[in-house]
Amino acid sequence: MSNQKAKINNPKSLFLNNVGQLVTANEDEVQCIKNTSVLIENGQVVSIGEGYSNHSIDCGGKMVTSGFVDSHTHPVYYNKRDEEYAMRLAGASYEEIAEKGGGIISSVEGVRHASKEVLIEKVSDRMDRFITFGTTTIEAKSGYGLDTESELKSLDVIETVNQTHVIDMVPTFMGGHAFPIEYEDDHEAYIDLICDEMIPAVSDQGIAVFNDVFCEKGYFSVEQSRKILEVGTKHGLKSRLHADEFVDSGAAKLAGEVAAFSADHLMAVSEAGIANLAENNIVATLLPGTTFFLGKTSYAPARKLIDAGISVALATDFNPGSSHIQSMPFIITLACMHMGMTVEEAYQSATYNGAKALGLEGEIGSIDVGKKADLILWDLDSLLDIPYHVSNHSIQKVIKNGEVVFGA
Ligand code: NIG
Ligand code: FE
Repeated sequence: MSNQKAKINNPKSLFLNNVGQLVTANEDEVQCIKNTSVLIENGQVVSIGEGYSNHSIDCGGKMVTSGFVDSHTHPVYYNKRDEEYAMRLAGASYEEIAEKGGGIISSVEGVRHASKEVLIEKVSDRMDRFITFGTTTIEAKSGYGLDTESELKSLDVIETVNQTHVIDMVPTFMGGHAFPIEYEDDHEAYIDLICDEMIPAVSDQGIAVFNDVFCEKGYFSVEQSRKILEVGTKHGLKSRLHADEFVDSGAAKLAGEVAAFSADHLMAVSEAGIANLAENNIVATLLPGTTFFLGKTSYAPARKLIDAGISVALATDFNPGSSHIQSMPFIITLACMHMGMTVEEAYQSATYNGAKALGLEGEIGSIDVGKKADLILWDLDSLLDIPYHVSNHSIQKVIKNGEVVFGA
């Protein structure tokens, strides 16, 4: 696989011929266009159903979709946490493991001690694998450094990988992921460190777009989360948050108050929280991989959220502890099988709505003239084949910015 970034304004043209089904989503619906073609120039889609180029790919009557937009991941970590996975297999819960010093905190030492170069290599390798699953844009959080230097290092790693790897990465600062051990007895001092030192430094260096907080019992309270997000806003960072993952702590309501782009997890969201998200037009990003990987059955109420008129996005939550999952096709399978989503809804959530959760729906997330040519050629006939094939994803080629970056 070529993992060198396709040059922006890639002048080459590419013609996808003999597309059996072209699947794309917008705000309101999923469209399937039969027996068509796609012409790409300068990294963008320039026409659908007509055109020609010397460089063409015969799609053999198979399906072409948008590349996936994975709008929630934590890829900057050093060590795997398979021992926690073993503890869960033996019956311990994520919360119990975290109380015994596992969880987020057990990734901190590794990130603090790792060199930037080592982290770049690890994150780059992880991005290689994301591409093989059809993910062409990914949101990536810091949050395992939890001191100023290590949070900046993590964001620096994301910036470097974004510059060199074909995948597009959207950086999120998440100093508010957990309280580090040295602040165990003085949480307010850590909030001050985030607000007075980390956020201004992140903002000065221009290395994050979003600011995220784990607003949850045992982590950051609604008041603490509000403060961190409001200070972020003053420094030009956009808000998103981990909301009501294990218990309803009123985080969905806070999402409305701080005009978050997205409220994520929502396994325990209340009726009032749902009404609030709907009222404030906030994307609900659901992460069924986490529910699955933690061995829980309390999947987020996707149907209720959709029926309330909320845009639902789907993402992997890829991280070493609670969701060691990189495959968006598998997330679609979980959404269809455990959250009552139709395959069309799940597809829309994994593409267009993922882009919307990042404020990028004008550029990516659908196959439209003028948008980025980020596409997947499947060895499948229709959308239903994605969840039906469960773990055999049958991706023939991934095209990023108009260049074949997987399956060349
Ligand atoms: O999204 N919920 C907070 N953060 C991660 C868990 C990260 C970890 O366990 O390392 C999540 O599930
Ligand atoms: Fe997360």
